[in-house]
Amino acid sequence: MDATFFDKVAAALPAVCFEQAPDLAIVLGSGWGDALQVDRPLLRLSYADIPGFGAATVPGHAGEFLLYERAGKRIAAFCGRRHWYEGVGWACVVLPVELVRRMGGKRILLTNAAGGLNPALHAGDFVILRDHVNTVGINPLIGPHNPAWGARFPDMTEVYTPRLRDVLHAAAAKRGLRVMEGVYAFTSGPVFETPAEIHMYGHMGADVVGMSTVPEAVFAHACGLEVAGLTLVSNLAAGISPKPLCHEEVMAASKAAQSVMAGLVDDFVTSV
Ligand code: HPA
Repeated sequence: MDATFFDKVAAALPAVCFEQAPDLAIVLGSGWGDALQVDRPLLRLSYADIPGFGAATVPGHAGEFLLYERAGKRIAAFCGRRHWYEGVGWACVVLPVELVRRMGGKRILLTNAAGGLNPALHAGDFVILRDHVNTVGINPLIGPHNPAWGARFPDMTEVYTPRLRDVLHAAAAKRGLRVMEGVYAFTSGPVFETPAEIHMYGHMGADVVGMSTVPEAVFAHACGLEVAGLTLVSNLAAGISPKPLCHEEVMAASKAAQSVMAGLVDDFVTSV
């Protein structure tokens, strides 16, 4: 990735973004867009107005950046993300994380919707990420080493910060939610998986499968940010689900879980 791309984007952002480091950054993935209702943000910026970002192309991704204050904390929220399968390259995918790093942010919550393959999971459950499997075999740090992004060979022993996992557990417990910690298998998409692939990912130790989050998590962790990952199980994975998969099912599950998602995000924001 070329740092000059990020220089240009950062230079185009209003000064308010950099005047105070955010206490927390959030990336809201598929279906999580409505989990944030912010009446009077310090800044609301459409992705279409952030040069180089491009409008979010996936239904369910709002495509806007919000800077707001809640419980005395400053929050940088990216409502919608770009994905590797969009063919836009890694820079757009990790742009939110790089902007947070440049703002001086130290922690980030990454949310997503994913397919459940652990037999204990049902659609509508939440999974707190403990670890991941990158089935794609490539990642955003491939390329010339930029020391600003951490070590040449970043350690990945504990990508998802235990303390932040505890905060998510507490938020879920407060709502009496079924929640487990799990491993997220990252696939390139945009195709959903075959039943044979799901079978294999299960043997690899994955609990949920999806097309996002891991690139940002890898990059953020390498850069020294604390990372939390929260998944809504929007459907059972291929071969486990009795019916073919579709994005509409993912969106419907997200819609049904909207108020719970909003509560979880708000609890995390206020107690982290
Ligand atoms: N597979 C991959 N990505 C997904 C799924 C799935 O079953 N559900 C939501 N995102």
